[in-house]
Amino acid sequence: MERPVLVTGATGNTGRHVVAGLLAEGVPVRALVRRSDHGLPAGVEAVDGDIADPAAVARAAAGTRAAYLVWPLMTADGIGPVAAALARGAGRVVLLSAANAGSGDPGERGSAGEVEDAVRGSGASWTFLRVTGLAANALQWAAQVRTGTVRAPYGRARRSLVHERDVAAVAVRALLDGGHGGRAYLTTGPEAVSQREQVRILGEAVGVATRWEEQPRDEAAAELTAVFGGPGCAGAALTYWESLTGRPEEVSPDVERVLGRPALAFGEWARDRADDFR
Ligand SMILES: NC(=O)c1ccc[n+]([C@@H]2O[C@H](COP(=O)([O-])OP(=O)(O)OC[C@H]3O[C@@H](n4cnc5c(N)ncnc54)[C@H](OP(=O)(O)O)[C@@H]3O)[C@@H](O)[C@H]2O)c1
Repeated sequence: MERPVLVTGATGNTGRHVVAGLLAEGVPVRALVRRSDHGLPAGVEAVDGDIADPAAVARAAAGTRAAYLVWPLMTADGIGPVAAALARGAGRVVLLSAANAGSGDPGERGSAGEVEDAVRGSGASWTFLRVTGLAANALQWAAQVRTGTVRAPYGRARRSLVHERDVAAVAVRALLDGGHGGRAYLTTGPEAVSQREQVRILGEAVGVATRWEEQPRDEAAAELTAVFGGPGCAGAALTYWESLTGRPEEVSPDVERVLGRPALAFGEWARDRADDFR
């Protein structure tokens, strides 16, 4: 029987599409899950366990042909033994990573950089999908879109958000095909769209009039500190978005190069997810 591909984060933003993409190609899928109500499609083999538990990851990876790794934790603590377990069991790892991990400045690489280093050092064949931002981040505005006004900071910040289906489509190619080992793909949308424009596009997709209301940085900092659990991450996020008001986030051709078709636009994502904003 064909060996399965292991998918971690299989219930999440990208993992669910990786599962669907593999099933569509007739590839057996095994998923590491921590909840019995995971709701994964019939035919997916679910293995219980926590991503931070190397023994559980080793059980899930045994006999697989490749693994999609989502490391959803705030720090890289514990990634070493998990990466080693994936190297032994799956041999090939496709990692959902972050664009800053590719920074030439070691201080900017953050925990995503440490996770990459562990996977690279594990002995597995690796592919990194370095995401600038997922379009699913726009879900944070869902409640406000319903009211017609989104109050948030830096409306002029231009972001190259990527549709999660594109991240997954690239992952599926890297999991199944040759030629992707040792490659880091900057995984972005096809253009950088300002946050104010994103809100307009969302309104258009939902069929309601929406407007952007610029939120002062201090007010946003207080809200984000509560979300991130500390002022450090909140301040870093705000400073990054502020920088994108002058210089738009990078747009990369990597998705199109791997898939042989253009990356999906933010408007496509908005139409796909319009019900989440109704
Ligand atoms: N959001 C962005 O714009 C962005 C940008 C760059 C990089 N990234 C990277 O994307 C990753 C997170 O992706 P996401 O925000 O889209 O999240 P997500 O994949 O939608 O959600 C996390 C997934 O991991 C699972 N999970 C969480 N904790 C787990 C645990 N302890 N053991 C086993 N499974 C666990 C969750 O399962 P349950 O169903 O059980 O909760 C869910 O399937 C991070 O590595 C982050 O660095 C995100």
